[in-house]
Amino acid sequence: MSQNAQNLPLDDDEHVVARSDELTDGERVIALLNGKEIGVFNIDGELYAYPNWCAHQGGPLCEGRVSGTVEAEHDRDTLTTELEWCREGEILSCPWHGWEFDATTGDCLVDDGCKLRSIPVRNESGYVVVTL
Ligand code: FES
Repeated sequence: MSQNAQNLPLDDDEHVVARSDELTDGERVIALLNGKEIGVFNIDGELYAYPNWCAHQGGPLCEGRVSGTVEAEHDRDTLTTELEWCREGEILSCPWHGWEFDATTGDCLVDDGCKLRSIPVRNESGYVVVTL
């Protein structure tokens, strides 16, 4: 356990990154922890944390836009395609080349074999705590 400004009983690998009331729904914070940038997101009241590093070419992923994505359905017989905007507020897009990631799971929407490393994060006594 270590002493911290918030007087929380934290282990050495646990870090306060924000007050919980500062990281409201739809907000994010990017914190520098042990020399690593970590993005923490509040999406529909749930917290998610990922390295600020894109699996494509290392761009600052967590600085990207959080919005939705387009799902397409193509009918081979009629050759028609229907597009639908969905998942608003849940998709993180890298600012460098636009790769999209599901911010609630870390799954990459562009490459099935690619997934972000999820970092443990929780609310504790009014603070957002990341374990790294
Ligand atoms: S570095 Fe993120 S999409 Fe290319």
